[in-house]
Amino acid sequence: MKKIYIVYPKSIGTIAPEIYGHFTEQLGGVFYDGLWVGNNSEVENINGFRKFVIDKLKAINVPVIRWPCGCFAETYDWRDGIGKERPVRRNWWTPNDGRYENNAVGTHEFMDFCEAVGAKAYFAANLTSSTPLHICHWMDYCLSNENTTSMAAERKINGSADPFNIPYWGVGNENWGGGGNMSPAHYGNEYRRYATLMENTDNTAALIACGPNGSDYKWSEEFCRTIVNSGVKINGLAMHYYCGSAGDALNFNKDEWYRMLSQANKMEEILLRHWHILQGFGMDNRVKLAIDEWGCWHPEGSGPSKGYNLFEQQSTVRDAVVTALTLNIFNNNCEKIMMANVAQLVNNLHCLFFASGGDSIVTPTYHVFDMFKDHQGGSAIQTAVTGNDEFNCSVSVSASRKNGYTTVTLANLSAETDMEISLESVGVNLQNTADMTVLYNEDMHAHNTFEHPDTVKPFTCAADISKPFIIPKTAVVSLKCKEC
Ligand code: AHR
Repeated sequence: MKKIYIVYPKSIGTIAPEIYGHFTEQLGGVFYDGLWVGNNSEVENINGFRKFVIDKLKAINVPVIRWPCGCFAETYDWRDGIGKERPVRRNWWTPNDGRYENNAVGTHEFMDFCEAVGAKAYFAANLTSSTPLHICHWMDYCLSNENTTSMAAERKINGSADPFNIPYWGVGNENWGGGGNMSPAHYGNEYRRYATLMENTDNTAALIACGPNGSDYKWSEEFCRTIVNSGVKINGLAMHYYCGSAGDALNFNKDEWYRMLSQANKMEEILLRHWHILQGFGMDNRVKLAIDEWGCWHPEGSGPSKGYNLFEQQSTVRDAVVTALTLNIFNNNCEKIMMANVAQLVNNLHCLFFASGGDSIVTPTYHVFDMFKDHQGGSAIQTAVTGNDEFNCSVSVSASRKNGYTTVTLANLSAETDMEISLESVGVNLQNTADMTVLYNEDMHAHNTFEHPDTVKPFTCAADISKPFIIPKTAVVSLKCKEC
């Protein structure tokens, strides 16, 4: 039996709701026709966006959505996405899938989507093929009050008299790769140029710099060295970590199960080491990590479109456990993280939804976000687990408290062994009965399809947490415990 101590006197910090953020890119089937079906569609929609997805996102309290993202952002001209006449262009991904961008979704449509969901917007600015002035004009267009600038007047003609609220701006994307193949020092200097003007345009927005690719510590170090004494504004360092695959999305054996989870578990070491670099430069008092792309990246072709949608991959019980493990790592390190955005929302990598035509379903990953949503804004509490040294037989856990309740989320990382758990609360008493939600399927390859949308879905029950209880192998569990 494992004992899980919830050590109330040891508070880690507040879990920023934005840690439960999302990522949407004009790539494959994410927007067309995942999110966006158009105003005249027979598919139920709100301002052209699929109502099913909006309703489900509202239910999990989505705090923030990143757009236009991703490699797409680095060839994106925001002017293509406003007004009545929208050009059709090649985009970053055209060489991969032969699809063209008709710009049906642009700034106004994306902001409609955020408003319908109740989420904040996080825009990623093109630093590779644009200019600082062009980005400042985009900010002017979005943010200037009515009857001030020509940009505000143009925005009004296009349907929005009121300015948009965009509290987060990314300054580039993956500038170590698709975003210009820059060296960290080169990017650091570009960052100084862009960020200076962007701050001048809107000094209230948080500016997020392009950070490292996974364990590229040299990037963080050189970048920090380049900007540390510049006086330039920086609030976040974006780190991307895709934990890859082991086997395939659907076909994997037990060894590959464990390999996948241990790759996902590297997230903790990677974020800690980047954090230590920020600390080393004395920047940790003003900069936090924004892990604005994370997730599994399986070989494509396993999703409903059978490979038509670039990067679309099925999501099994294994992806749900990766999600739980990762979110627990984020909760346990919340004082270092301002935001995290799982990649990507629909018909793509590590997605929460599959949608096409009249069909819309959620994946096991969606259910985990639902089960973890009470952590948002909570105060994270340190936990300690006995007998948890062997990774393949361990349980992942985090705990937080809010409004008189403690939320505990667990994932049994074992593909073979059910685990007996006892909860030991130190410093606060919990009522004996808690609400328990369990996501479990005896087949670790189980997943949802348009034909069978509920193969993997959680059930809830009342649990007596004063006694040991069992977490089945491969299961994700959340407990909502009332404090006495
Ligand atoms: O999410 C897919 C791609 O992965 C993004 O466009 C890019 O930022 C990353 O390499």
